[in-house]
Amino acid sequence: MVMENEEEYREVIIESGKDQENDGTEDEDDDDLDRETEKWMKHYSSKQRILLVGEGDLSFSICLARAFGSARNMVATSLDTQEDLAKKYSYGIGNVRELEERGCLVLYKVDAHQMSQHFFLKTQRFDRIVFNFPHVGFLYPEDNNCQIKLNKTLVKGFLKNAKMLLRKQGGEIHVSHKKGEPYDRWNLVKKAEKIGLVLHEVVPFSRNDYPGYCNKRAHGSLADAPFLLGNCSTYKFRLSPNQFA
Ligand SMILES: C[S@@+](CC[C@H](N)C(=O)[O-])C[C@H]1O[C@@H](n2cnc3c(N)ncnc32)[C@H](O)[C@@H]1O
Repeated sequence: MVMENEEEYREVIIESGKDQENDGTEDEDDDDLDRETEKWMKHYSSKQRILLVGEGDLSFSICLARAFGSARNMVATSLDTQEDLAKKYSYGIGNVRELEERGCLVLYKVDAHQMSQHFFLKTQRFDRIVFNFPHVGFLYPEDNNCQIKLNKTLVKGFLKNAKMLLRKQGGEIHVSHKKGEPYDRWNLVKKAEKIGLVLHEVVPFSRNDYPGYCNKRAHGSLADAPFLLGNCSTYKFRLSPNQFA
């Protein structure tokens, strides 16, 4: 089933009972979540509402979904269309099917620069918003100033939009990112602080902590191939206290 226009999304979201105004008030879905036993995968819990942004072949979402059993607490998004996912990744469509069977909402063509205006996402608030290894694609060499500028713009757009979709109480935005040159030049933490976020914690990121997760280049003829992770960390941001004033 290909869902790329707003009308089709609306129908599917209403059918799957996910058309919830999520302003912190409890509804039936939240009640169901409350009754379930809490399950954890590293920093993520089956009791958190989790938004995944810029997924590659959706294998990170799959890892969480399998750990939780039910994935009704998750919305997994990709910048790609469903056709792109099928073309780019060996397991793209299989992963979509499994996520949907587990109750995860999968949304396509979600641009991190505009996601706070997305017709469905804008009605939701999330406890965790996760973007692993944001990257615009390999347009120039990795250390070229133009490439760095494009990647910085992506991160800024993501953080600004994620902030709007974050639950005020206890909400966290997680960005996993490589360390060292040229990645330090993205100034991730400074960017976040300018936007009204504070760095809560930085923890080493290891792919081994997430069974089934395959990090993807996601661009060009090697889209389905992994990229070298090297030294990388998950940066956890919260709303700065003056955002509550
Ligand atoms: C290096 S890949 C990482 C993919 C995946 N998160 C992973 O860890 O395997 C970078 C990802 O950023 C996504 N991306 C680039 N620009 C984006 C945008 N404007 N909005 C949302 N995602 C974007 C790409 O589609 C791609 O999936």
